Amino acid sequence: MSDSIILGIESSCDDTSAAIIKGNTILSNIAATQSIHKEYGGVVPELASRAHQQNIIPVVEKSVIKANIQQNAISAIGFTRGPGLLGSLLVGTSFAKSLAMSLDVPLIEVNHLQAHILAHFIEDANPMPPKFPFLCLTVSGGHTMIVLVKDYFDMEIIGKTIDDAAGEAFDKIGKIFDLDYPAGPIIDKLAKEGNPSSFTFNKPKLENYNYSFSGIKTSVLYFIQKEVKKNPHFIQENLNDLCASVQKAIIEILMNKLEKAAEELNIQEVAIAGGVSANSALRKAMEDNKIKKGWNIYIPKFEYTTDNAAMIAMVAQLKFERGEFTDLRTTATAKYDL
Ligand code: KG4
Ligand code: ZN
Repeated sequence: MSDSIILGIESSCDDTSAAIIKGNTILSNIAATQSIHKEYGGVVPELASRAHQQNIIPVVEKSVIKANIQQNAISAIGFTRGPGLLGSLLVGTSFAKSLAMSLDVPLIEVNHLQAHILAHFIEDANPMPPKFPFLCLTVSGGHTMIVLVKDYFDMEIIGKTIDDAAGEAFDKIGKIFDLDYPAGPIIDKLAKEGNPSSFTFNKPKLENYNYSFSGIKTSVLYFIQKEVKKNPHFIQENLNDLCASVQKAIIEILMNKLEKAAEELNIQEVAIAGGVSANSALRKAMEDNKIKKGWNIYIPKFEYTTDNAAMIAMVAQLKFERGEFTDLRTTATAKYDL
């Protein structure tokens, strides 16, 4: 791998992030998370783009200072072109274009989903990078899919959610429990003190490797409505057990299909990526399969799981080596297939 220095910029949702990579070594990875959305129980697109506009220059400046490099050492600029919230993407895209023009360096567009998967190739993401072909369960607030990764830029989605994403299920169920947004990490924390076998919820029965999470959300909602009628303090009195039970159900749904895919495709290299891959029960289930099924598992370091620019810089580095540059006339895109 070349040891060129590349700046990566990520602004697809509610994190403004900038990172500097040299070869596949991350020199800095800075993020400004937007707390404003907590008040609204979810990301408000209009507010997200305004916050990106305020954050982007200080975040990029910090990434350059932390990496201890001169601006003129940057060989290219990579940015998230999509998928994501259009207003948010526009901020990163426009900034990346202007900076590339002023520094007179190439511009490289990056697919956010590919970046979550290729984050595994960052030097300190794993002790060893995955070997092709591998399966990658990509689970975030917006996406849930099993991807067959045949090569860096040769990926096939073999299964995906037909409705809500797994992170969305965590967040929406958290809202029912009156937890702050994003509820995924809070449920994970509360579940540690709970009994996962306390309550059971409906699981989807879908063909192939597809997922559905809207059923479990409805099942939790009806169950809670029924119980709260009998005891108004039901949620507070059972919060840890509820969180542990919901987490168990979601992770079982995720793992069942991943195990089926690994078995049927005869693949032992199995990775997870995206925000939900920070979940401790999912990490534990992967560890269990390392022993039970002999999988070689790849669980990225925490800072490379949720949205971050290090993964964008990693993809930009791979594209830089291949000479895959982007025209300055490119535009952000809310939908962007793998
Ligand atoms: O990848 P990401 O940062 O942003 C998207 O591209 O969506 O993922 C954010 C999602 C949120 O839904 C959040 O609740 C979930 O990841 N998440 C978790 C955990 N940490 C983040 N879900 C469950 N357990 C966690 N520890
Ligand atoms: Zn993401």
